[in-house]
Amino acid sequence: MPVMTWDAALMLDQSVMDQTHEEFAELLNRLADASDSEVAAVLDEFIAHTQVHFAQEEQWMEQMAFPPLHCHQGEHQGVLEIAQEVQRRVAAGEVRLVKVLAQATAEWFANHAVTMDAMLATYMKQIDFQPGRDAQPKAGAVPLEFGCGGSAHAAGGCNAHQPEAATSEQNQ
Ligand SMILES: [Fe+2]
Ligand SMILES: [Fe+2]
Repeated sequence: MPVMTWDAALMLDQSVMDQTHEEFAELLNRLADASDSEVAAVLDEFIAHTQVHFAQEEQWMEQMAFPPLHCHQGEHQGVLEIAQEVQRRVAAGEVRLVKVLAQATAEWFANHAVTMDAMLATYMKQIDFQPGRDAQPKAGAVPLEFGCGGSAHAAGGCNAHQPEAATSEQNQ
């Protein structure tokens, strides 16, 4: 069963990011539907794609000297660490954990895309930063008036949730 529906609500009007996010959602659904024999390979593919996805956003943030870089990066890092922990446990035979990871990551992403990533896309637009064209820092072009996740971020600050349930559920 799909864990994520790709629709207009998740689109950020930033073509590179939207394309990457659509692929991310497809991979999450493949992860959720993978048979036991496929799980390890799909998880490897998902992690490799996610590393590129997150590194891409982090590179843009560095190039723009984006003020909430560390907070956004910290959330990426937490998600990747959980996925890699699941990868280790899948290799040890706990294949069922992947379904939990897919569900929890889909819930995390639905929030992350419309807060942190949306704010990044807005900032790119505000300062007219275009990936591939602009390699130089554009520090301080527009002072940000809101925090890490944007003014609409329910949790605010750097404490946005991560899919922690993925590994903890199996420990009970
Ligand atoms: Fe993203
Ligand atoms: Fe992000």
